[in-house]
Parts: sequence; structure tokens; C-alpha cells
Amino acid sequence: MTVKLPTLDGIEEVSSDYSMKLLLIISHVPSENTRALRDAVIRGAHHADISGVRVRALTPFEAGPDDVRAADAIILGTTENLGYMSGALKDFFDRTYYPVQEEKQGLPYALYIRAGHDGTGTLRGVETIVTGLRWKEVQPPLICRGDYSAEFATQCEELGLAMAAGLEAGVF
Ligand SMILES: Cc1cc2nc3c(=O)[nH]c(=O)nc-3n(C[C@H](O)[C@H](O)[C@H](O)COP(=O)(O)O)c2cc1C
Repeated sequence: MTVKLPTLDGIEEVSSDYSMKLLLIISHVPSENTRALRDAVIRGAHHADISGVRVRALTPFEAGPDDVRAADAIILGTTENLGYMSGALKDFFDRTYYPVQEEKQGLPYALYIRAGHDGTGTLRGVETIVTGLRWKEVQPPLICRGDYSAEFATQCEELGLAMAAGLEAGVF
């Protein structure tokens, strides 16, 4: 059964089958391009071959400790702003870090970054935090760097698919 729950960003929870594993996507989407990347991740995670995974997409503003507790894996998406992750994602970590630190050790995660010309500061910043959380990186970090390219969306779609497929197969 599919249900549609509005969120601040208009993305909807897509299934109410709570026996399935939950892939949580938390992405900061301040622009048309970043929304396209987030949508591509969702599209990949919803691939026709995947049936055992529920996908939930939230902005960092919407997400909090309970969302992380419920998740079996997470994809984080952020812009690089002034050499670091978006304030939105940082705020999410500020609110979530201690409440989930013990309970969610080993949580499989993947990260994609939209950067105008760099991305390494953001990668370092996120990795520092998730190392403290002891989350498990299960896909190489994806940095969509430079002028926007349609290839970025393809890469994000592949990331969503890889995470959902791995979760479904229980390989993480
Ligand atoms: C205030 C601000 C600071 C930014 N700082 C960086 C930065 O330090 N490094 C970088 O690679 N890109 C930086 N960017 C570029 C953004 O990451 C990029 O424009 C954003 O991800 C949106 O992507 P889009 O322009 O394709 O929509 C910055 C953008 C803004 C608005």
C-alpha cells in the first residue's frame, strides 16, 4: 500500500509496509539542481527490481533523531558552502548526534555532495561526524563537482539504487 505524507519539501513517504527496511534520504536541496539530484537518488532507490525497501526523503530541517532511529540505512546529501557542509545538515547533526550515538552505531550510510568547485572540506566535515557516530560507509562518497552536468543525476540515481539493493540483499 502506498501512502502520501506531505513534508516541508513536498516529498512523500511512499509505502506504509513497515515490514520492509527503511532507507532514509536526508538531503539539502536549496536549488533546482540539488532537487534534481535528490530526485535522482529517490528514483534509483525506487528501481523496479527493488521490492523490499521503503524510501523516505526528508530535508535536514525536517529530520531528527526519531527518523534516524527508524532507518536501516541513510543517504546524506549536501551542498558545499564556504568549504563545509550546509548549515542545514550541520544543524541536523547538532540535534541528532548525541540522541542516536549509542543506538545507531554501524548504521550504513552513503554521502553525496554538490560542490561548485571543491567538496573536500564538506567530505572531511561529514566524515569527522559520522566517524564519531561509528556509522559505516558502504558506498564511496560521490562529489558532484563543477558546472552542473546531467551525469551527476545519473551518478546519484546509481547511488540510490546501490544503497537500496544492498539494503534489500542484507549485504551491509
Ligand atoms: C554561499 C555559498 C557558498 C558556497 N561555497 C562553496 C564552496 O565553498 N565550495 C564549493 O565547491 N562550492 C560552493 N558553493 C557552490 C554551491 O555548492 C553550489 O552552488 C550549490 O551546491 C548549488 O548547486 P547548483 O548551483 O548546481 O544549484 C557555494 C554556494 C553558495 C551559495
